[in-house]
Amino acid sequence: MNRPESHHPFLQQPFWDPHQIPLARPSFTQVDQAAIAEVVASGQLCQGERVARFEASFAEKIGARYGIATSSGSTAILVSLQAFGLMPEDEVIVPDMTFVSTATAAMYLGAQPVFVDITETDHNIDPEKVGQVVTNKTKGIIAVHYGGNTADMERLRTIAAERNLFLLEDAAGAHLSKYKDVGYAGTLGDAAIFSFTPTKPMTVGEGGMITTNDLQFAEKCRQIRNFGDRKKFEWQVLGFNFRMTEMAAALGLCQLERLDEFIESRRDQASYYNEAFKDSVHIKTPNIQNHQKTNYQIYPVSIEVEQLTISRNEIIEKLAAEGIASRLYYPALHKMAVFSHEKKNWSSEDFPYSLDFEKRSLALPLFFDMTELQQSFVCRKLKEIVEKYQR
Ligand SMILES: Cc1ncc(COP(=O)(O)O)c(C=O)c1O
Repeated sequence: MNRPESHHPFLQQPFWDPHQIPLARPSFTQVDQAAIAEVVASGQLCQGERVARFEASFAEKIGARYGIATSSGSTAILVSLQAFGLMPEDEVIVPDMTFVSTATAAMYLGAQPVFVDITETDHNIDPEKVGQVVTNKTKGIIAVHYGGNTADMERLRTIAAERNLFLLEDAAGAHLSKYKDVGYAGTLGDAAIFSFTPTKPMTVGEGGMITTNDLQFAEKCRQIRNFGDRKKFEWQVLGFNFRMTEMAAALGLCQLERLDEFIESRRDQASYYNEAFKDSVHIKTPNIQNHQKTNYQIYPVSIEVEQLTISRNEIIEKLAAEGIASRLYYPALHKMAVFSHEKKNWSSEDFPYSLDFEKRSLALPLFFDMTELQQSFVCRKLKEIVEKYQR
């Protein structure tokens, strides 16, 4: 496996603790620094040409016609839902295994998220069950590409078309993930959103992007993102400030140049883990399906906790004691207090697979500059813990 040369300019004085292995860490070069310094020197910190250039370049990279940059992945979801015309009391179908804002974005518009279980195999929304919860209030489906693994977009598209629903991809971390030979994540629904927080394959700090092939939809998003302006001080529709800064866009343009390299190294590192755990009885590697060319945005192993005298959370604590970060991505959403006031009564019986996954899933460190020594240390420690606490 070819390990990337570290481009980090601060290697002599790392900004991270060299004795800790984080879950994720972005990679920057002097080029990134210079690009941001250039924005500051120019004096134009917002609404300049860099945001427009980043939008066009990102969209072109994944094969979408339009890109609309936003202040975060979450605001990209909110803007998209408003542009789809989501109204109070409407319902939007979301998977139970996702980040909270996939679901709460709809609540900002007075609408209701409706949770659907994931499949046992790929932990993405189960298309079979999506069909069962559509009502006359349902306006759309948000298909999350969990951990960078594309959802079953063909079946979801069919359901959306038959029931006249919008299909929004939450591709928050699915940069350059592919679905069959159909195309990249971000081109598979009516619109898509991406996030650029530091745990994602490329980062701008805080930022997001909407991608679509629909010109009218793109224009609506642009207007909502910018206070509902049509022209300066001509406020036509309800909008707000959801804009990306020029500093963020400058960083985004630099990171985009290296995106192929970032994804290639994630795939190499995932292969290392796959190989290291292939004979483990208690540690199951991610079950990637044939239709998914994943970017391994996260690397979640499934622990056979029934065969151990230790819980997944205790494993996280024991790894942390060794300086290794690990985490559950994510708790099953329907149980979260933020959704308890919603009108639906969620029953755990409806979510067997998200609840099962929640109990055993453990995301391991994976980042561009991760060394082979660090990866082998993670593998060794996890195996040791699991072996020690076997029933
Ligand atoms: C699946 C998913 N959706 C949405 C988001 C929200 O993105 P952001 O943190 O940029 O608001 C995230 C971020 O972690 C995510 O993982």
